[in-house]
Amino acid sequence: MKLIKRVNFVSFCALILCMVTITFLRQHSAVSPPLPHQMLEKETVLHFFLHDTPGGNSPSAVRVVQTNRTVHDTSRTPFGTVWVVDDPLTEGPDPKSTVIGNSRGLYVSAGQKELMLVAYLDFGFTSGEFNGSSISVLSRNPVTDIEREFAVVGGRGKFRMARGFANLKCIFYNESNGDSIVEYTMVVRHY
Ligand SMILES: *[C@@H]1O[C@H](CO)[C@@H](O)[C@H](O)[C@H]1NC(C)=O
Ligand SMILES: *[C@@H]1O[C@H](CO)[C@@H](O)[C@H](O)[C@H]1NC(C)=O
Ligand SMILES: *[C@@H]1O[C@H](CO)[C@@H](O)[C@H](O)[C@H]1NC(C)=O
Repeated sequence: MKLIKRVNFVSFCALILCMVTITFLRQHSAVSPPLPHQMLEKETVLHFFLHDTPGGNSPSAVRVVQTNRTVHDTSRTPFGTVWVVDDPLTEGPDPKSTVIGNSRGLYVSAGQKELMLVAYLDFGFTSGEFNGSSISVLSRNPVTDIEREFAVVGGRGKFRMARGFANLKCIFYNESNGDSIVEYTMVVRHY
């Protein structure tokens, strides 16, 4: 008799645990994004300046891979070279203006016949409304053009499911050390 009661008590506890788990899972599933037709798409335009400084004592861009086929190539960007970057993003064109984020990732020199970098970058924001959110870019970067365009392929945080583009305009380039300042206008649609 006592054993049956204990078994009943155990099943009762199991039932409660099961209900608690279901409630938790229900609440938890509310955190995942709603289905596309339930969401309202927003458009955000971001304007900032990127500072790429491969020169100097603390470069923001470092060459990490180069094929031995181009060891004698003296150009700055031989085919088959990879750089890792952590470039600061600022509010204004002056490198000393307020930093609002960083652009981190890779540039790959991927043009056999002409100079063409391909960018694999995550633009993360560290202040304001988009602090903690980031935008993913995967795009060719025809660096010899003053004005260029990047494809925005995704995002995190407030930029979940982002898509869009960025217009780039090189406003400063130092030929002797490769340092540059690029003005960005990003247009992203996200939820
Ligand atoms: C590059 O490295 C490969 C593998 O070690 C070698 O076979 C080849 O001769 C090298 N090429 C040059 C141009 O040094
Ligand atoms: C951005 O978010 C981080 C992490 O939540 C926080 O530590 C930091 O103070 C925030 N920065 C600004 C400028 O709001
Ligand atoms: C360009 O780079 C060279 C070499 O590092 C440096 O001496 C010069 O001051 C730089 N020019 C500008 C305008 O920053």
